Amino acid sequence: MKIAVIGTGYVGLVSGACLAEFGHEVTCIDNDESKIKSLKEGRIPIYEPGLEAMVLKNVQAGRLIFSTKYDPAVPEAEVIFIAVGTPASRRGDGYADLSYVYDAARQIAPFLKDYTVVVNKSTVPVGTACQVQRIISETNPGVSFDVASNPEFLREGAAINDFMRPDRIVIGTDSKQAEEALKAVYRPLYLIETPFVITNTKTAELIKYAANAFLATKISFINEIANLCEEIGGNVQDVAKGIGLDGRIGRKFLHAGPGYGGSCFPKDTHALLRVAQDNGVACRIVEAVVEVNAAQKARMTRKIRQALGGSEGGKKIAILGLAFKPETDDIRDAPAITIISKLIENGASVRAHDPQAMNEARKVLPEVVYCSGPYEACEGADAVVLMTEWNEYRALDLLRIKKALKMPIFIDLRNVYRTAAMKQLGFDYFSVGRTSADN
Ligand code: UDX
Repeated sequence: MKIAVIGTGYVGLVSGACLAEFGHEVTCIDNDESKIKSLKEGRIPIYEPGLEAMVLKNVQAGRLIFSTKYDPAVPEAEVIFIAVGTPASRRGDGYADLSYVYDAARQIAPFLKDYTVVVNKSTVPVGTACQVQRIISETNPGVSFDVASNPEFLREGAAINDFMRPDRIVIGTDSKQAEEALKAVYRPLYLIETPFVITNTKTAELIKYAANAFLATKISFINEIANLCEEIGGNVQDVAKGIGLDGRIGRKFLHAGPGYGGSCFPKDTHALLRVAQDNGVACRIVEAVVEVNAAQKARMTRKIRQALGGSEGGKKIAILGLAFKPETDDIRDAPAITIISKLIENGASVRAHDPQAMNEARKVLPEVVYCSGPYEACEGADAVVLMTEWNEYRALDLLRIKKALKMPIFIDLRNVYRTAAMKQLGFDYFSVGRTSADN
């Protein structure tokens, strides 16, 4: 099938490459000329494992093209995916900024020729598909098209796998013809028996928000249980296992830590609250999830302060990990950024390392000393904080870390190491929701 993807950000690029990998003829369009130029030269603007190889392979096979122009890809396309950004609104009121989505609709409209399915891949508030429908009809009256919603559930760092082997495909449309077109797009997934959820557009839009809000709820829930474990002398990892083995609960997304971050959970929970408020419906659980997440970040700062004997002022702190999670260079809403900013505000100096995210972090935290590795970051520091569970921090040479540190204080915000072993090595070891030495 001939497919056009509007927007070569994270979602657009991953979707475009994977759709080409399915065998479709895909053109990825972006009006950022320098981005398209880089992509044509084989340079991928984001770090995502496996993406570069997949892009190159499909470009070479002639199935994946990059362009700044709508013509001829848009008029020829049977399906057009809108995958532009929906950042949190600059007004700071919790709404998603839909101007890029609406601009894309306005720009493709004049180019539509034969029947086309326009698909919202971007995460958008309930009702956006109707707006896109209206914009296209107004811009190009009489043109034959349908709008569908097909939310993505891609995790950064695992996006290729999530696209190629998804848990489900959600298709929201009120048109049988659009449904058939989208089923044809995802036909290769029938072979691996991927479940399809076919519903109306508004429900599909809500599924995306509800999925992310539910996952965020699991995280805030286990973080509160972790805090309780710290008071009663329990072990949150055992609680997570003990409840997660119940199939109704499930073991995933029950890792206690410094709170969730990234480009989705913080934005989507706020956007869901907005949709609820606009419709006069209470969404108290999600409200609490957002509050608990902010409180968790603040609690982690206090944990570091207490480990340092009550004050971080004048202390040198090593931070391992800046990205909101491993295998990404994304620092959007990363707990590391909030926590480091607070430590610096309170008079600490920070030395940090991250395998991928240092370039991004430099832009927002210029005061930090960026180091070439974890051992260098620990050199002369009063404490080390393991902030993001990158694989390379999972098997650190702990004696070397101890030697590099001025004080053997290790604050493990991802529960990577074992309390008893760390104590045996002579560390003052602090983690999340695990207090007793046998944990
Ligand atoms: C998420 C959803 O998983 C994905 O389906 C959606 O489309 C986009 O948002 P992503 O933001 O890439 O993906 O990361 P994810 O792996 O879900 O982690 C989000 C945050 O939650 C990270 O900060 C992570 O550290 C945190 N987290 C996750 C926990 O603190 N504990 C957990 O058990 C799981």
